[in-house]
Amino acid sequence: MCGIVGITSNKQVTSRIINSLKKLEYRGYDSAGIATLEEGIIKEVKCEGRVDILEKNISKININGEIGIGHVRWATHGKPSTLNAHPHSSEVVSVVHNGIIENSTILKKLLEKKGHQFKSQTDTEVIAHLVTDYLKKNNLKNTIVKVLKKLHGSFALGIIFKDQPDLIVGARRGSPLAVGYGPNENYLGSDSYALKSMTNKVSYLNDGEFCLIKKDNIDFFDTKGNKINKKILNLSKNDQSYDKGDYKHFMSKEIEEQPTTIKNCVNEYVDKVNQKINIYNFPWKINEIKSLVLVGCGTAYHSCMIAKYWFEKNSLLEVNVDIASEFRYRKLKFKKDCLYVFVSQSGETADTYAALDICKKNKMKICSIVNVVESSIARDSDFVLPIHCGPEIGVASTKAFLGQMLVLYMLCLKISFDQKIINKKVYVQKIKNLLLLSKLIKKTLLIDNKIQIISKTFANSRGSMFLGRGYSFPIALEGALKLKELAYMHAEGYPAGEMKHGPLALIEEGMPVVVIAPRDELYKKTVSNMQEVISRGAKVLLITNKSKDEIFSENIWETITVENVSNDLLPFLTTIPLQKLAYYSALEKGYDIDKPRNLAKSVTVE
Ligand code: AGP
Ligand code: GLU
Repeated sequence: MCGIVGITSNKQVTSRIINSLKKLEYRGYDSAGIATLEEGIIKEVKCEGRVDILEKNISKININGEIGIGHVRWATHGKPSTLNAHPHSSEVVSVVHNGIIENSTILKKLLEKKGHQFKSQTDTEVIAHLVTDYLKKNNLKNTIVKVLKKLHGSFALGIIFKDQPDLIVGARRGSPLAVGYGPNENYLGSDSYALKSMTNKVSYLNDGEFCLIKKDNIDFFDTKGNKINKKILNLSKNDQSYDKGDYKHFMSKEIEEQPTTIKNCVNEYVDKVNQKINIYNFPWKINEIKSLVLVGCGTAYHSCMIAKYWFEKNSLLEVNVDIASEFRYRKLKFKKDCLYVFVSQSGETADTYAALDICKKNKMKICSIVNVVESSIARDSDFVLPIHCGPEIGVASTKAFLGQMLVLYMLCLKISFDQKIINKKVYVQKIKNLLLLSKLIKKTLLIDNKIQIISKTFANSRGSMFLGRGYSFPIALEGALKLKELAYMHAEGYPAGEMKHGPLALIEEGMPVVVIAPRDELYKKTVSNMQEVISRGAKVLLITNKSKDEIFSENIWETITVENVSNDLLPFLTTIPLQKLAYYSALEKGYDIDKPRNLAKSVTVE
């Protein structure tokens, strides 16, 4: 799930490749590299770690050229190291790759028998040698067709050739790839975001396609090598900020801007004058949909889990929720009257995209809920509901989670009203509640001092648990996920009622346990479960909402009260302390908050 960039130009390209790589670091950041071609010589500079290090290394070496490719890596085959960093070169070509070559071991053996020598442990290096091998007996275009046929797995590729002074080959199967058009130069990139500073004119490769990019011309081909035409799209010129401003981390900025992102999203969908939710151009009639399948990964999956509770309570729809990496390999019974909803911040997650693709091939109704509207998932959906929260840069998803929940909730309200489950009065009241949400989130955010002190205990513990019932159960999972990914701590999310069926054995003296128990219909049940863990020595952090009623429980270690809000909307508020808990625990440990180890923002490998 790395980032790829390529430029062929009549000007020097090195510094622009470096700038684009910096933008692509959200896709991978364990190593980086660049290769340029100058006077028939391919030059490479690579390093373990971030693009900043690559940039420093380059400043000491003369690496020029009017054509080049660059890469930021998220290792799948071979540990992150300078040697395994891309590009990977033979004596005649240099390759950058996003994805996994599943038959690389077999191909490597065959190529070694033919005398090819390998330097790295990556699957990618076979591509460089395979191209080199085919070039001996084939012209360039046939070589590409034959090489792509040989490769199993997924890839986005950028290739430059020693004897082709201005040619970059781009090819795609599974992993996304965009091509950009500039004045006397053209570009290749994992996404349009990486190319935005250079052009707003792009085309996207579809699965199986490849292209030959020269500085003044781009040719596109299908899998068989037949020439095809491509639409040129104009990218929107949004000046959304990719800047941290005065914040120490993108994550803290993204947490604090949630009142604004929620307000913006509500304004996009709520018609305040007519007091209704507008979902324009929804392509299906309400009675054509009898069930929903909600699919996502990680945090997006958690938003789907919460939505299931809302839809089941407020609509006639049967709702199933699935993790995309499981969904894609199951024997599914597709139903014509089912709406398949894919939730993804990036819109590029490989598993979610593959799940969508299966539904597409089976001619199902496809809706996506995304943040990046130019993404592959959005482009291939019948209908898109954007979450309007602006770029999310921190690897840990925060404002996008609230945005995903919000759009799912608004879709639920609309369906609920259209199906006549709620009457106009209730509908209007629920919309009024939504309009207050931004302010309540803002107030709830004012808990830093307390949560900072609490975080010290979490940061110094061996592990922790997060418990909740109903829609607070997915919130517990989300809280645990945030703590794992940022503070590298074992954290387990569990339905509070399940503890006695096994996990209670994990509780030991002093173990921090977060109990999410807002004053909803399950409050008393959750409080009983909380008592059970307290009795066994747990240090409980209770997260609940303000109420005039006392909390009937003893020996609670700490309590954080979020603002009061209608029950449906409680998950939006109970999430906030958990985001801050993970943030401050990671800060306490001195970890890299925006780029946690081993992870990437956009997961474009399966
Ligand atoms: C959350 O903090 C994650 N880093 C991760 O679970 C993420 O939500 C998941 O990879 C899905 O990403 P997407 O929303 O871009 O599809
Ligand atoms: N499989 C390749 C490697 O491990 C590419 C991984 C990626 O997409 O970053 O180098």
